[in-house]
Amino acid sequence: MTPQSDSNTNHGIESRPDRMPESIPYHIGIIMDGNGRWAQARGLPRLAGHRAGVDNIRRILEQCVRRGVKVLTIYAFSTENWQRPPDEVSGLMRLLGLTIQRQLDDLHRNGVRILHSGRMEGIHKELQKQIVRALQITQHNDRIILNVAFNYGGRAELVDAVRRIIQDGIAPEALSEELLSSYMYVGGLPDPDLIIRTGGEWRLSNFLIWQAAYAEYYTTPTYWPDFDERELDRALDEYSQRERRFGRVPKP
Ligand code: IPE
Ligand code: IPE
Ligand code: MG
Repeated sequence: MTPQSDSNTNHGIESRPDRMPESIPYHIGIIMDGNGRWAQARGLPRLAGHRAGVDNIRRILEQCVRRGVKVLTIYAFSTENWQRPPDEVSGLMRLLGLTIQRQLDDLHRNGVRILHSGRMEGIHKELQKQIVRALQITQHNDRIILNVAFNYGGRAELVDAVRRIIQDGIAPEALSEELLSSYMYVGGLPDPDLIIRTGGEWRLSNFLIWQAAYAEYYTTPTYWPDFDERELDRALDEYSQRERRFGRVPKP
């Protein structure tokens, strides 16, 4: 959620240019799964896997920049993840705070704009402040958008959107798909073209259920901390060979 999130707005996000090469996804969403199993396989505590997972974000973000991807949404903590053991939950919260502390300046210098998709309620006040600060400091950067889905659930997002629509007194006949889209946590963000899930599962786990209605899906058994530049290129290769028909007949 952005600092101005009390009303729907496009957050000054550029719309997707028409001349964007179709073979490169403009927006990629990644379900960064497999941190726990990566750690367990090494006899390490699960949190060591989460730390390795955080370290991996940077290398994939940089590869996205090199490949011309403009938006990367990463699923970092779901509304369902509160059901994990308290130690793991507090470890994950601490990890986000530490990551902002350590990496914000460098991300900012490198032109990364940070956005947040998710509920602020439930997040510790101090961490909320750190998140808002990261959004504010980076708000004019335009090299790439890193949208962090934290305390995020697709169903919660829809509920929150409908609540705000009702609060704004929108008439039923004024409701459209475009309007509902603009009420998502980050209104104005183009829908994801490609959803990647690491860790081998074939499910969405409540990630971008509205926005990814027509995304291409890619899963790999590789655990997130091991998902490197080559793995990303493999996903991009596969994406470039997909034919996106959006309900139409195949191109002749
Ligand atoms: C994903 O890794 C990261 C978060 C959900 C925070 P997991 O922690 O789910 O790793 P596995 O699936 O147990 O291996
Ligand atoms: C999805 O992974 C959430 C994140 C990556 C943050 P989970 O590991 O929580 O998903 P499930 O429980 O296997 O569906
Ligand atoms: Mg998992």
